[in-house]
Amino acid sequence: MSLLFPKWMNVLPTVFAVGGLLGATTVVGGFWYYATPKFFKVGYMPTQPGSGFNHQLHAGKLGMDCRYCHTKVEESPEANIPSVATCFGCHAENKLAKFTESETHKTKTNFIREAYATDTSIEWRRVHKVADYVRNFPHHIHVNAGISCYSCHGQITAMPVVFQVQPLSMSWCLECHRAPEEHLVPRDKVTQLVWVEQHLKERQSGGANTEGQRLLQALGAEPPQNCGACHY
Ligand code: HEC
Ligand code: HEC
Ligand code: HEC
Ligand code: HEC
Ligand code: HEC
Repeated sequence: MSLLFPKWMNVLPTVFAVGGLLGATTVVGGFWYYATPKFFKVGYMPTQPGSGFNHQLHAGKLGMDCRYCHTKVEESPEANIPSVATCFGCHAENKLAKFTESETHKTKTNFIREAYATDTSIEWRRVHKVADYVRNFPHHIHVNAGISCYSCHGQITAMPVVFQVQPLSMSWCLECHRAPEEHLVPRDKVTQLVWVEQHLKERQSGGANTEGQRLLQALGAEPPQNCGACHY
């Protein structure tokens, strides 16, 4: 049943509602845009609550490892978003004195202390989501195989606001499953996104990808291409 109604159709009511207000051209334009899977959600960047969370600042400039906050990426099929307590660990009143002297910093981070004080969670809006008719995407297996966050999420350390870089379409999954050696990096480097980006670019421009072939052999696993691996 669900296969008959691919995920992009979910947006049709919105497209038609907007079209009703703005005229027929929007309907045609909107339909063409959403019906072309290649463009679906690439660039999607929802507005986050409070003053948001800046990866460029925390993971880039301050150099925090992804696993400081996304603690489950190596263990769980679902990556996790950190709780307010993780933020509060640094953003409590008496911490970061050097920064909290600044009024702008105080104002920008107040939403964290408010959430902590009232024991409410910050409702971060989800950026990446595979279609519902796809089985639970096994996040940890990919990370443990030596696929960097960079290959699927882009250069997060340079993003003030996270947005979707890859289409998450079936052809995108399969493209890598057919040639994973293009993306494999040493296991201990998967969260070093700046290193990975440079390393993969050097490999691409360097002719034969012997490093990738070596890593694939060492992995000793073949990513599945049978329908049942990804669909119910
Ligand atoms: C200090 C905590 C922290 C660190 C460190 C951190 N993140 Fe995040 N990350 C968050 C929070 C909070 C969100 C939810 C808000 C948002 O999407 O911006 C998030 C969201 C994301 C998302 C989008 C999730 C979705 O909704 O689809 C990705 C992808 C991501 N982080 C990857 C990374 C990577 C890769 C690194 C390491 C380079 C990293 N993060 C480091 C806190 C952190
Ligand atoms: C390891 C410590 C640490 C953790 C954990 C941390 N932050 Fe920060 N954060 C900082 C520091 C340091 C700054 C100030 C950096 C600067 O201004 O250069 C900052 C700045 C900020 C700012 C102000 C940004 C701006 O644009 O000026 C916001 C908002 C913020 N953090 C949100 C969060 C949220 C939300 C979390 C939890 C998901 C979090 N932080 C976790 C250390 C941390
Ligand atoms: C092989 C591709 C791939 C790799 C590698 C990968 N991710 Fe993801 N990530 C995804 C997909 C696809 C989703 C959406 C999953 C879903 O809808 O079930 C996602 C979702 C997320 C989310 C959102 C989880 C939520 O529940 O909101 C976070 C956070 C995240 N990834 C962080 C990371 C971090 C950090 C790394 C590196 C350590 C990483 N990812 C590596 C593909 C990947
Ligand atoms: C950048 C490369 C890459 C992308 C993109 C990617 N995969 Fe994979 N995937 C792999 C590799 C490598 C393995 C083999 C891991 C292993 O067996 O150690 C794998 C294995 C799997 C497995 C088998 C897990 C198991 O239990 O052995 C599933 C299911 C899977 N991927 C689903 C997906 C889906 C769904 C997508 C798209 C949303 C996707 N993958 C995108 C590289 C990728
Ligand atoms: C590696 C994982 C993977 C494998 C293997 C896979 N699919 Fe998919 N498939 C996906 C993902 C992810 C989507 C969702 C695409 C989207 O949201 O745009 C999808 C979407 C679909 C759709 C909906 C239409 C579309 O193209 O968006 C159909 C039908 C489908 N798959 C059939 C199959 C069949 C038949 C096979 C076996 C020949 C297969 N799939 C193998 C991951 C996979």
